[in-house]
Amino acid sequence: MSASVGFHLPSSAASRLDMLVDSIESNQGPLLNPAEMRAASASLDIRSAIEQLPEGMTLDDFVGILKLAMLTECATDSYSAVFQDGAERFDAPWLARFNAQVWTPDEHTHYTPYKLMLQSLGYSEEELDLEMREVQDRNYEHCCGRTPIELTTYGIIQEYLTDNWHGMISQLLKPSAPYAARCASMVKRRETLHTTWYREMTAIQLEENPAMLELVANTVLSFQMPGTRLVPEFGTRSLEWMSKANVDFPRVARDFVRNFQQVAGTMKRAGQLFVELAAKRDVRFGPVPISAFRRIMDKIGGAGYGIIGEALLDKFGIPRPTSQNQTGPINLPPRMYEAFRSRMRSMITRRIETAAIIGEV
Ligand SMILES: [Fe+2]
Ligand SMILES: [Fe+2]
Repeated sequence: MSASVGFHLPSSAASRLDMLVDSIESNQGPLLNPAEMRAASASLDIRSAIEQLPEGMTLDDFVGILKLAMLTECATDSYSAVFQDGAERFDAPWLARFNAQVWTPDEHTHYTPYKLMLQSLGYSEEELDLEMREVQDRNYEHCCGRTPIELTTYGIIQEYLTDNWHGMISQLLKPSAPYAARCASMVKRRETLHTTWYREMTAIQLEENPAMLELVANTVLSFQMPGTRLVPEFGTRSLEWMSKANVDFPRVARDFVRNFQQVAGTMKRAGQLFVELAAKRDVRFGPVPISAFRRIMDKIGGAGYGIIGEALLDKFGIPRPTSQNQTGPINLPPRMYEAFRSRMRSMITRRIETAAIIGEV
């Protein structure tokens, strides 16, 4: 478990984070309406979807995908308790308020459409309720640290992947069950908002104390989806099902990098985060061991990490803000310095290993 040492926010951070939560509270966007969904349960009949599953996906796979969504969502209170505990222990009333007032009540509604869809496939309400209760009663062990920045970093990844899951279900249902697809997509939109909110919370904390970059990196490295822990019989099959559903993995990787580039806030910090992740994963950087590479970078300073940040965006096909001509640490005229940066960038782009950043997908 990651150490709580290293978490510190200056007093200026509290009011910024409070203001962010204020604005989230007053702009929550359209919430799900479970009563409305229950009233429209006939339109959540998804039997016709079975005929139109992608090649290679069986009915068992499809049911597993829906059950993983329902069972992961129904355990909201287990995750919520971890966030509440961290918020209290590390004196983060903004996080406690967001968790209790916004996130938890929203998440409580997300399992509804999936339960109704599964009922249409012949599962009785009683057996689904029983399965959910069993998962809710399991002991949830959180994968990562409990300081506020570790929790919000965890939130980014977990919400982003969940967003992806609901989007995948929506795509599977679209041709045959449009209302069911719309419901899945409504859940997806909630997760998109959650991802954005956790990203903004993380970015503020990091900006207020850049030394906490290590806590962000630790969380990325030890992250595990709650489903793999609480519902291992389904959770461990998620990658297999994603490929059967033809999920665009390069897009997932791109989104992942984009999210963390925004968390980092500057090119320099994005580069530092990448080097930190690569170092902790013990990845080589081309022929150079990362430790040696890091020593060189620390000598060059900010500009060096900035180039890595830019190279990272190039590697994943993310447009980067056009860099203004600038004179670097070495005294070169701006045009020559830009040419040097560009050569460095493409050299680094060729050598960055995707697995160093996002792990093995
Ligand atoms: Fe959710
Ligand atoms: Fe969520």
